[in-house]
Amino acid sequence: MTDIEPRKSESLAPTSWDYAPAPESRDVVTLRERYGHFVAGDWLEPSETYTTISPSSEEPLAVIGQATAEEVDVAVGAAREAFANGWSALPGSERAKYLFRIARILQERSREFAVLESLNGGKPIKESRDVDLPLAAAHFFYYAGWADKLEYAFPNRAPRPIGVAGQIIPWNFPLLMLAWKIAPALAAGNTVVLKPAETTPLSALLFCDVVRQAELPPGVVNIVTGDGSTGAAIVTHEDVDKIAFTGSTEVGKAIQRELAGTGKKLTLELGGKAANVIFDDAALDQAVEGIVNGIYFNQGHVCCAGSRLLVQESIYEQLISKLKRRLSTLRVGDPLDKNTDVGAINSKMQLEKIEELVAAGKEEGAEIYQPPCTLPEKGYWFVPTVFTNVAQSYRIAQEEIFGPVLSVLTFRTPDEAVEKANNTMYGLSAGVWTEKGSRILWMAERLRAGVVWANTYNRFDPTSPFGGYRESGFGREGGRHGLEPYLRFE
Ligand code: NAI
Ligand code: MG
Repeated sequence: MTDIEPRKSESLAPTSWDYAPAPESRDVVTLRERYGHFVAGDWLEPSETYTTISPSSEEPLAVIGQATAEEVDVAVGAAREAFANGWSALPGSERAKYLFRIARILQERSREFAVLESLNGGKPIKESRDVDLPLAAAHFFYYAGWADKLEYAFPNRAPRPIGVAGQIIPWNFPLLMLAWKIAPALAAGNTVVLKPAETTPLSALLFCDVVRQAELPPGVVNIVTGDGSTGAAIVTHEDVDKIAFTGSTEVGKAIQRELAGTGKKLTLELGGKAANVIFDDAALDQAVEGIVNGIYFNQGHVCCAGSRLLVQESIYEQLISKLKRRLSTLRVGDPLDKNTDVGAINSKMQLEKIEELVAAGKEEGAEIYQPPCTLPEKGYWFVPTVFTNVAQSYRIAQEEIFGPVLSVLTFRTPDEAVEKANNTMYGLSAGVWTEKGSRILWMAERLRAGVVWANTYNRFDPTSPFGGYRESGFGREGGRHGLEPYLRFE
């Protein structure tokens, strides 16, 4: 046996472990120069337009229609006709076939959709590929299963479709929010007019292709693009029977005022300021991953983001130092790079809102930490940020920032944790980290939030109802609960 030769130099092992660029190919996506509105299974040439961009490079991607009230009216007319001329009377098992088909096509074309979603919205490809797309397909698959079982879902209540649903969605999960809206509406036998957010229309427009491929009868799904004025035209249209809205609390309140007394059904999924509560018996490394996933996932553009971290005082120093160390490993940059953890901020407007609130946090006396990080020159970016020394009265502890910014507070006892967690006008979600099952249940009973995650965060499943109360809105999406807003009972 030969002797193993000892290593001569100390520095032969690589010392730098930088990631090489790993960009996902853009070639799978073919963009048109110009898009119209998708009405009655065909493209309607828009009378007004604007240009949608990529927030990571500011490059223009396509010209998009800005629907006027007249164009919304045409779309609603198409939806009404499709509702009356067959869709609502179709046996549930037939509707299910279309939904299963849509689910399958989304799976087949998921790479194309994921790239487009990251291109137009700025989220990391890792997330659109592994979260948005699988969940969107799963929602269609799940609600396809209910379409012929409505009588069993609501026994002795004779469920019937309500008619035309107007659906207005935001820019943080464009395709996934489309799925949350369209899948239950169609399963219940309704037709829809959906408006994506003005900054992220492209995946909804590509979805029109899927609708055609699935041979869905024309007019069952109509997509109109445009800004808040288009949304308002949907809300006020007389022939719309139900409005489903996801977005800001401000617009949600305006919609509720507008619809009061009209008899139209309404569900609102609005903002949040969730507490993520870490007890001293929690598995800290696991908790740190949960905290990171809670607030830096999708650049913090998440209504249920764990934006207020409540840490038990006895583990405060240890946890914060672990968190800071973990933050320095997050890779911020090109959304299409497979190694990117934090992508681009969705729009200039959103970036300005984040900057304004972060400035307020410093001004009010909180201590800011940002890991060293080089940001791309073009596009909209914000470094993952942690604020410590935060008082409950600070704006960064009260207002939804909707960016990669965490506010840290402390507590001593479980009672104090509950009190601080509930000290918010919102009530969408919360997180609890502890080894004790009994404490999880004790907390979940007291936290005023629609969703409480235990030893995990930002987990979604189509079978699980999601929604808030207080200023986070009302109504539930997902699960059997998610069908109810799209049904009337005889
Ligand atoms: P927004 O509420 O204005 O936009 C959401 C959707 O509503 C978009 O499709 C928009 O075109 C539409 N819209 C706007 N005004 C409307 C009106 N008067 N009638 C009908 N539809 C209307 O939200 P924005 O301005 O994009 O973001 C502002 C803040 O809202 C964010 O910083 C964040 O705090 C919060 N937000 C919460 C979301 C959530 O998931 N709950 C999603 C997006 C924003
Ligand atoms: Mg707005």
